[in-house]
Amino acid sequence: MTEYLPEPFRIKMVEPIRLPEREARENALRQAGYNVFALKAEDVFIDMLTDSGTGAMSQFQWAAMMAGDESYAGARSYYRLAEAVKEVFGFEYWMPTHQGRAAEGILSTLLVKEGNYIPNNMHFDTTDGNIRSRGGRPTNLVIDEAYDPENQHPFKGNMDIEKLIAFILEVGVENIPFGMMTVTNNAGGGQPVSMENMRAVAEVYKTYEIPFFIDAARYAENAYFVKMREPGYENKSTLEITRELFALADGMTMSAKKDAIVNIGGLLCMNNEELFTHARNELIMREGFPTYGGLAGRDLDAMAVGLYEGLDETYLEYRLGQTSYLTEKLAEAGIPVMQPAGGHAVYLDAGKMLPHLSHAELPDQALVVELYREGGIRGVELGSVMFSYEDPDTGEMVYPDLELVRLAIPRRTYTQSHLDYIVKAMVKIMARADEISGYKFTYAPQFLKHFTAQFEPL
Ligand code: F0G
Repeated sequence: MTEYLPEPFRIKMVEPIRLPEREARENALRQAGYNVFALKAEDVFIDMLTDSGTGAMSQFQWAAMMAGDESYAGARSYYRLAEAVKEVFGFEYWMPTHQGRAAEGILSTLLVKEGNYIPNNMHFDTTDGNIRSRGGRPTNLVIDEAYDPENQHPFKGNMDIEKLIAFILEVGVENIPFGMMTVTNNAGGGQPVSMENMRAVAEVYKTYEIPFFIDAARYAENAYFVKMREPGYENKSTLEITRELFALADGMTMSAKKDAIVNIGGLLCMNNEELFTHARNELIMREGFPTYGGLAGRDLDAMAVGLYEGLDETYLEYRLGQTSYLTEKLAEAGIPVMQPAGGHAVYLDAGKMLPHLSHAELPDQALVVELYREGGIRGVELGSVMFSYEDPDTGEMVYPDLELVRLAIPRRTYTQSHLDYIVKAMVKIMARADEISGYKFTYAPQFLKHFTAQFEPL
């Protein structure tokens, strides 16, 4: 029996949710152009679209918000967050941003030139889009095991060090303005990166004098995986592990909407003073003054508390337990899911579930639609809709290796019964998988297609 740890909290405020009738769901789908991003949230019963900004803040975070200092410059809230950022991540310089992509946008504006390459274990869509829209080429060099959903490697987010070195030599150091690592590897299943691998990556970047930035969105979940799985870390705290990990890098971009459990917020940190000076100017132009960076003072305070709450090990044990519970339950029911369970989400293998559909027929999109149709459940596709692109050299469509559907679990929001409901819906979908038809685009923008694309069933 797969175990479910009791939530280490109780519910003090509730937000009603409801399941619309089947026919209403069908209408909603049609009106949304079969893109679940276009659904009204009130028409969604269980929303697993993202774990970003959707978590429940604690009483301590809400209390901290009441003390938010809304001064334009030099607010107390800024200094409280500064202390937390320094203690958790340790970089010399930092600035708040309104969310992760704003930090990525600033970094890309300053460093990415036409034809540049940015290696990463795997870029998430916003880093990919920010780099691509400036003429750069985001490159994924994760270990091969990441592409095998059944492979049980404990750190499937690791970078392939040999691939990284070969890549640097092939494209030339002068064409790589910075290198990255994403923890956990969201685009590849929320899989963690080991300390050992991070050290090796840092060493390579250092050898070739490539500045190293971590995409830190899920720093705490990664730290807990290291504690659980990497020899030598079992007795270190998640805070110690986080500090050790980030000491290896020259900077980081972060969406605080994940592990810092806030509804809005981000960070850009670095050790290079000159780069920081330029970044600060960019921040002022589009985010805000450097002591608030596009956020309200109260948001800074909520983040300052959340940075530590995300690292709480009792919470993390429950949190990762929830993800593995849903993964195991689905696997037991014969539904193809990525193994082992990642940190923040369950990844359904739509390619395997719907083998009769080719990449161009968007099997993952088909499964996303089916989840809503069957149970009012909203997931997100991480496959050909999100990641296919036209090769700038050949003009041909390049499709991702995996067609995944992600069910991201908001933090401290849903309970065991919600997860069991999802398993039941998936079992019904699986039973009629061979009757599910594919989809085609009727509209797609050039970048970040998935947000606004429209579809039609084939
Ligand atoms: N990096 C990673 C690894 C992410 O997962 C995200 C967002 C971002 C950067 C961008 O941060 O949204 O604050 O601007 N991921 C969300 C998701 C949207 O659903 O996984 P943001």
